[in-house]
Parts: sequence; structure tokens; C-alpha cells
Amino acid sequence: MSSEATTAELMNQFVLGNYGRFPVAVSRGEGGYLWDESGKKYLDFATGIAVCALGHCPEVMQKALADQSAKLIHCSNLYQIREQAELARFVVEKMMERSGKVFFCNSGAEANDGLIKLARKRAFDKYGKEAGKNEVITVTQSFHGRTLGGIAATAQEKVKIGFDPLLPGFLHVPFNDCDTLREAVTEKTAAILFEPLQGEGGINPVTPEFVATAAELREKFDLLLMFDEVQCGSGRTGDWCGWRTILQGSGVDVEPDAVSWAKGFGGGFPIGSFWASDECEGALGPGTHGSTFGGTPLAAATSLAVLEELDESGALENVKRQEARIREAFAQWDLPVIDSLRGVGLMLGFVLNGDELSNNTTFVESGLTPSLYVVNKAMEAGFLTVPAGEDVVRWLPRLNVSDAEVDEALATFSEVLSNL
Ligand SMILES: Cc1ncc(COP(=O)(O)O)c(C=O)c1O
Repeated sequence: MSSEATTAELMNQFVLGNYGRFPVAVSRGEGGYLWDESGKKYLDFATGIAVCALGHCPEVMQKALADQSAKLIHCSNLYQIREQAELARFVVEKMMERSGKVFFCNSGAEANDGLIKLARKRAFDKYGKEAGKNEVITVTQSFHGRTLGGIAATAQEKVKIGFDPLLPGFLHVPFNDCDTLREAVTEKTAAILFEPLQGEGGINPVTPEFVATAAELREKFDLLLMFDEVQCGSGRTGDWCGWRTILQGSGVDVEPDAVSWAKGFGGGFPIGSFWASDECEGALGPGTHGSTFGGTPLAAATSLAVLEELDESGALENVKRQEARIREAFAQWDLPVIDSLRGVGLMLGFVLNGDELSNNTTFVESGLTPSLYVVNKAMEAGFLTVPAGEDVVRWLPRLNVSDAEVDEALATFSEVLSNL
């Protein structure tokens, strides 16, 4: 193919076709904005799907990457790594505010695989192989990643089709259904795993009652309560821990035994991690788990720079303030194509009214889901968002998003919707 080929043509020819990609070829980013190869500018409320917590190419990341790459980029986990230890200390002392230990890997799916291994190994060590205490319970509309462990844990048929035989030992219950959860848990249950605020499944928060029920079952059956905060963690809800934001003021005060993170945890540098409480101490000893690239000096130093900047710049308070501004503006909208706004912090979902949208012949002829159709329309207007399920459009702006960017998003999005 000649060098005149477009990016889309090159990708089509050489890159595995496992993603349904939009036609936009992104070439540059700065703060809250992206530019494509034609020079068109986009306000980015997709942020790599909740990844670029500080926006695009923030100076702190540039500096951390430059400084650390001049000092030491990679070093095996056979050795002691200062940057990794400092990042783990931040997670324990600042994010969790609870003692425990941290493991580093490279993605959300890997972090969740680690949680599954942790739960099984802890139960194995404590109760022996014969007990068969290895089941992991997850919930409908969940998403835990694309590894074999991740798709087994994910309670959405579409991610599993064609990949049999799946990893056994997973049971799915309806999200927020306390009675079914009670019926599902047995002596064989090693863990309950869920996202406190579901992302891919449509921006669905857990109810405090469901968390309380899971905690009650933990006491009764000695299982681990594990939270996947890959998308909703790292400050996105306005707190380091998504479940704490959700439980605040509910009267339910529950802490998990293990938590996974990725996405915004590295602000755009690939890194995943999980924290495990003292209860899990020793379950994953030498030789049980690992990753060549997990927590390299470069990854750890960059992630720590991102998290410290979020902490020191007041970005978490900004999350709450901007959420309030968005909700206030939304309350004034009178747009029949939108049913409601749900979510927490800057992980917000606009729920579309598919029936109302069906009056639009261009939408019907497009054959697209309501969310994909609206995301495309917003993109044409220079505003990037992400579908969540068939009916929800997600806003995931950078956590330090400015007033002006939020105002622009509100104006552009409401105009797009009113033109439908
Ligand atoms: C809640 C949740 N868990 C796990 C994952 C998988 O993360 P990764 O794509 O980094 O493997 C995702 C990705 O969307 C996610 O939203």
C-alpha cells in the first residue's frame, strides 16, 4: 500500500479488526481537547474511556516520564523497586486509608484476574482443595475485562460467545437483587465481585442494601468482598474510592477485602493494580502470581505523579463541583429524547428514550443503537462521548475539567439532542 494510504486504510489492512472504530484519526491532544488529522478539534469527554484523568499530555506526566526515563525505565520484579513501593504507599495510605498490600500489573482485566486468583488461593490455603471453595459470584451487566478470567467473570453473554470452554466457577446474580444474592452464596463461595458503579453495563450504581447484604454474607461464609474500581475508582466519583461516595450518608459503612484499579490510575500510562486487605496476607506468596511489566519504575513513577497531582490540585473537589453544575443545567433541559441522568461524580450517563428517537427516520434508517447514534451525532459536532449499553451516553471528562469545558459540553450536547 502506498504511503498515501489513510490511517483508516492502514489500520484496516494491518491491525486486527477486533474493535468497531469510529472514522476519526486522532493526531494530537492537549488538556481537554483532541485534534484529528484534518485539524478538526474535539472537546473530549471520552478521555480514552475514563483514562486521561488529567486530560491530554499534562505537564506533570511529561515531566515524570522524562525524568524517570532518564534514570531507569525497566527493572525486573526480582529486585526492590523504590518507585513501586512509593506508589503502593500512596494506595494504602491515601486512597484506601487502610493497611494492606498492593500488586501492580498492566490493565484492568489483569488486575481482576489477580483478584480472582487471590480469592481462590486464600480459600484454598484456609480450607483445602477438598472444600472446593472457589466460586466467584458476579452480577448482571458487569464488565470485568477481556482475558479468559475477565470474560468468565463478566455477566454479559455477548463477551463469552465463541470462547468455550470458559473458566468454570462463576455464578451471576441480578445486580442489586439482595434475595437472589443470599440464595446464591454457599460454603463454596470464595468471593463476591462487582463494580460499585457499573460503566460498560450502563452507569448503574450499586445500592447500599446490596453492599450491606454482601457484607453480611461475607461474615457468614468467610468469603472476600471484592470491588472492581477499574473505571469508577482513582477519583472519578469525587473520592478515591467509588463505593465510599456511593455509601456516603446511606447508613451503610462497608469496606471491601480487595479492590482493582486501572484506567485513570495511570492517567494514560498503562498500569493496573489491586489492593488486598490484611485478611488476604500471604495468599499470593512467591511464585504464585506475577507480571514482567507490573509496576516498572517508569509506570510507577508516572502513575504516582498523576495521583499526587489529582490529590494536590483539588481535582477531586472539582469532580463534585462539576457534577453539581451538570446536574443543575440538566434539570433545566426539556428534551424528550432524554429520560434521565444517572451516575456519580464525573461518570455520568444520559439515558436516552429509544421510543422518542424512533420518530426520527434518519435514526431508524441508520440501524444503530440509540447510544451509538447520539455519540456519532455529538462527534460530528466536535464533542466526544462514549456509549454505555444500547441506551446510555457516557460523559467521562478529565477530572480537572474546567467550567468553560463543561459549559461547552452542555451547550453542544443539548443542541445535538434538540436537533434529533
Ligand atoms: C469495570 C471494568 N473492569 C475491567 C475493565 C477492563 O480493563 P482493561 O481494558 O484495562 O483490561 C474495564 C474496561 O472497560 C472496566 O470498565
